[in-house]
Amino acid sequence: MKRTMVLGLGALAIVILGACYDPDGLQDDREAAQLEVFEDRFEAAADATPDEPVDPDATPDPNDPSSAIVQELPVADYYLAACSACHGVNREGGVGLPLAPDNLTEPDDFYADTIINGRTGTVMAAYGGGAVLTDDEVAALVTWMKNTEP
Ligand code: HEC
Repeated sequence: MKRTMVLGLGALAIVILGACYDPDGLQDDREAAQLEVFEDRFEAAADATPDEPVDPDATPDPNDPSSAIVQELPVADYYLAACSACHGVNREGGVGLPLAPDNLTEPDDFYADTIINGRTGTVMAAYGGGAVLTDDEVAALVTWMKNTEP
């Protein structure tokens, strides 16, 4: 009886594995799961987004990465609005990878390229090419993420 069950379970596992063995299907599942977590966290991130007005005449200080303006917002506020749902309010990661200085050990270009072009097969979208962010804005984000502690 036990043996029948083991055989039965084994067969079931093979059937399930067979049903899943569609590389595209698996990827869709992964993306769907990532999107689900993203949606859950989106509201939390929206709540965390401050809405103080920005002084349009403020000049960013080249020595202070936090003073950069991205899409008319201080870089940290832009991050909260656009990125934190996946990468965490404190850049601790979530659906997306953690983005604190300790995590970002590759050259700037590597991360700029990810933000500009996105990552195929993941929910990391392309923000570059003028679609959302200019190259300067992407550079400001990378400098800020690599040089300021969350
Ligand atoms: C919908 C969720 C989502 C959003 C929104 C999002 N990302 Fe990502 N991001 C991801 C995922 C998932 C990855 C990891 C991709 C992989 O598996 O390689 C990633 C990877 C990255 C990486 C590469 C990190 C590394 O260590 O290689 C950077 C940099 C990055 N994102 C920056 C951003 C920035 C900046 C924003 C906002 C403008 C943003 N992301 C918005 C999901 C997201």
